[in-house]
Amino acid sequence: MTLVDVSAAPALPVRISGVQRRFPAPDGGERVVLRDIDLDIRPGEIVALLGPSGCGKSTLLRLVSGLDRADGGEVTIGGTPVAPVDQRSAVAFQEPRLLPWRSIERNVELGLPRGTARQAGRARVGELLRLVQLGHATGLRPRQISGGMAQRASLARALARNPGVLLLDEPFGALDALTRLTMQDLLLEVHAAEPATIILVTHDVDEALQLADRIVLLGGEPGIPGATIRRVLEVGKKRPRDRGDAQLAILRTELLSLLGVETHHPEDYITKAIKAQRAKRLAEPAGPDA
Ligand SMILES: Nc1ncnc2c1ncn2[C@@H]1O[C@H](COP(=O)(O)OP(=O)(O)OP(=O)(O)O)[C@@H](O)[C@H]1O
Ligand SMILES: [Mg+2]
Repeated sequence: MTLVDVSAAPALPVRISGVQRRFPAPDGGERVVLRDIDLDIRPGEIVALLGPSGCGKSTLLRLVSGLDRADGGEVTIGGTPVAPVDQRSAVAFQEPRLLPWRSIERNVELGLPRGTARQAGRARVGELLRLVQLGHATGLRPRQISGGMAQRASLARALARNPGVLLLDEPFGALDALTRLTMQDLLLEVHAAEPATIILVTHDVDEALQLADRIVLLGGEPGIPGATIRRVLEVGKKRPRDRGDAQLAILRTELLSLLGVETHHPEDYITKAIKAQRAKRLAEPAGPDA
């Protein structure tokens, strides 16, 4: 048996070119869900996918994972086409999907690549459990842990595969608001320690603004069937980010408006942002020509 190296794999680039996906429609015809999707993701980049419910975010993630195939176009990881159940990527979903009869440690072990030497695998699982702050809970069963802990175990299981690309489908969607914030910080720590390329599907605009290098907005256009990329926003701020940042507030308003959600008092955000920027400018020491 060949033994597999269990150290973290390098982050890999993802290229999505001209991708289309259709599904059978109830009337016997076909329905275009995704069309003309073009996206290049840099190694180690964090990309958030936002868009209305049912627009095809999970479908796109499945195409990148190899769990589903495009009807047109191509998805490559590290320059080669994605294979069915591609070993170079790992997925974590909204539900942690842990096996109830196995301990947390044994659940995470399931993520290890086939052929991993027993001792090296154990050591790797221990390391990952410590990384997601579950070092104290290794022997517990899923029913004995909280939702946030289960989600961290699910993340550790995905990382156990040493993915060059980590695909996260609303990983924190079922968690309460506070746990969610903690998980977002944790994800950034994990990314710093194991810098995979991350595609994160989320409904949470603030989560996208907090975590992503770029935010990709999927959606439809009137009269054309299927969703495509409507906007790509570069967040352009170093992480960790200040949740009250004025520029992020402006991006937030823009994103919400693109998503068709008018903020009740849009001037609040903008006025706040402008005031904060003005205050910052005033606080800065005057330049020589001031
Ligand atoms: N295997 C399938 N067969 C038929 N239709 C499908 C299949 N998978 C997805 N769809 C359809 O494709 C569309 C996009 O689904 P998808 O799950 O990708 O949306 P989503 O953007 O992830 O939505 P949500 O935000 O609610 O999770 C939906 O209309 C869904 O019904
Ligand atoms: Mg989905």
